[in-house]
Amino acid sequence: MLFLSSIVLVLFSCGYSLAQHEHHNHMQHNHEEHRVNVAVYYESLCPDSRKFFTQQLYPSLQGNLSHYVNLTLVPYGKTTSELNLNEHTFTCHHGPNECRGNKIQACALRLIDAGQNTEGLGFNKIATGFINCLMDKADREKGYFPTMDCAQINHVANLNTIDNCVNHTDASNYLSKFGELTDKLQKPLQSVPTIVFNNVYNKEDSDLAQINFVRALCKHIPGDKPECIKSGAGILQMSFVVVAVSIILSKFFS
Ligand SMILES: *[C@@H]1O[C@H](CO)[C@@H](O)[C@H](O)[C@H]1NC(C)=O
Ligand SMILES: *[C@@H]1O[C@H](CO)[C@@H](O)[C@H](O)[C@H]1NC(C)=O
Ligand SMILES: *[C@@H]1O[C@H](CO)[C@@H](O)[C@H](O)[C@H]1NC(C)=O
Repeated sequence: MLFLSSIVLVLFSCGYSLAQHEHHNHMQHNHEEHRVNVAVYYESLCPDSRKFFTQQLYPSLQGNLSHYVNLTLVPYGKTTSELNLNEHTFTCHHGPNECRGNKIQACALRLIDAGQNTEGLGFNKIATGFINCLMDKADREKGYFPTMDCAQINHVANLNTIDNCVNHTDASNYLSKFGELTDKLQKPLQSVPTIVFNNVYNKEDSDLAQINFVRALCKHIPGDKPECIKSGAGILQMSFVVVAVSIILSKFFS
């Protein structure tokens, strides 16, 4: 009996890995349709946002899993805005300096490579690197954003157009668009940062992403990606399958 159930188990797992293999090959040809939409609602000077960006999101975009991310950055958070005589004025969670930081990021997102994604990726590598650098190095007390250093490090070619945008109504218009996106999710936003996978807010996923972004992302990637299993995200699922199959087989043959 044990012998028979072992054979069935082996057949079962071979079929399983073959299917996974085909799935994997297919994905390498066309990541685009398998990308997970990841939207991040955050603020330029919020400590939790800075920690999430620099310790979870950005590092995970350096590896192979970056090919499975379609990223939307929304630097607005708990900002509020008023429209007076066609001019937006903003009030930011961490003060006026944060509004300037949000505007710098809004301009960068719109103006670096005209807001287009880097070829083969679901985000712009330069803009994301530039923003990560600002999240890392901004001085909250002094309200200082090292745009020049961050542009140099990340090869931003058009810092002058970003600088010109920041004190212009363009920045206010771009930022208010991010406000509309944020309001569409939640008004007011409950928690900063908020991370949304595949356009559906789930508090559990948002919280998990802040401690382990890879694990939260992997919950939304179909199939078992090697990078996910390595991170431990797939192991639980796999062992559950093995245990479940063993239980079913032992019931069958006993
Ligand atoms: C990315 O994938 C390639 C091949 O699929 C592999 O050789 C490489 O080690 C992977 N890199 C990382 C950082 O996992
Ligand atoms: C990627 O996200 C953008 C929003 O940032 C959305 O317009 C687009 O449809 C998404 N792409 C896919 C393939 O889902
Ligand atoms: C933008 O305005 C701020 C304060 O309002 C000022 O400190 C900064 O120098 C201005 N930047 C540019 C590029 O004009």
